[in-house]
Amino acid sequence: MTKSVAIVADRISWEERELIRTAPDHGLRIDWVNDESLCLGHPDAPSVRDFDAVLVRSRSYTRGGLIANLAETAGVLTLNTARAVHLCENKALLRTALRTAGVPVPDFRLVLSRRDFEKALDELEMPLVLKPVFGGMGKRVTLLRDTDLAQSVYDYVEDLGHAFEQACLVEPYLGGGTSVRCLVVGEELVGAAEFVSGGTDWRNNAALGNTSRAAAHDPDVVKIVGGVVAELGPGIYGVDLFRTDDGYVVNEVNHAPGFRGVATATGVDAASAVARYVRELVA
Ligand SMILES: Nc1ncnc2c1ncn2[C@@H]1O[C@H](COP(=O)(O)OP(=O)(O)OP(=O)(O)O)[C@@H](O)[C@H]1O
Ligand SMILES: [Mg+2]
Repeated sequence: MTKSVAIVADRISWEERELIRTAPDHGLRIDWVNDESLCLGHPDAPSVRDFDAVLVRSRSYTRGGLIANLAETAGVLTLNTARAVHLCENKALLRTALRTAGVPVPDFRLVLSRRDFEKALDELEMPLVLKPVFGGMGKRVTLLRDTDLAQSVYDYVEDLGHAFEQACLVEPYLGGGTSVRCLVVGEELVGAAEFVSGGTDWRNNAALGNTSRAAAHDPDVVKIVGGVVAELGPGIYGVDLFRTDDGYVVNEVNHAPGFRGVATATGVDAASAVARYVRELVA
């Protein structure tokens, strides 16, 4: 029997279209539900109750965890779990949870004030990266090469942000412009690709233009991804790694991963892998 799944998202991109297109091949019907029209909170969650599962793909870094939490609490099968989404939305909490679980992450300092910032500059060596705790698409992620520039960059954080936007991390610049992006479905690493920044921008987010190539399933990558899944639980994740002299470290985990880049670089049918996994769970 066909099972019914809601993709809860702010918009439809390539990934959502692929999931909707491939769903019938896997015994699913997937509908897009705008994340602005759920009005969750009723104990029976009428806006999602009739779906067999809810796939949370909000790009916003404030909506996903709230939606996942209320849907899950109302008894609807929700992917990813609210706990995992909440952790992924907060770069400081995620780093701390992974580090506590023994998964290597970059050294970092939580910066909530100029005093914190100055201490972080003192304790860590340039070049450094300043980034929002709650952020996405590479926005405001800033490479600091010189101490003298750092103070004026921080003026923007201090003067233009609200408390929520002022929460930042400072961490060493790692990976030399390269990240390994891993797509995890369930407990499995289904594809990995190396992304290199496009040239005019130092960051290598897909949204900013980058180049990619398939990365073989290095046992070290498999191991670190296994550590992430052990901590967050099985789910659908984009795990971003930096290669360092001491091995891989987890930069971040995306709970609503874009998988076009990995799919294109590796030839993996990522949408089918996701659909199969969701179908198994709702069986
Ligand atoms: N410590 C670092 N060293 C080197 N490059 C970094 C570092 N942190 C971030 N970058 C670069 O900046 C990009 C964006 O940073 P990051 O992935 O941490 O946040 P984000 O992409 O904005 O978050 P999200 O992936 O959730 O949208 C990375 O893809 C990488 O190219
Ligand atoms: Mg990123």
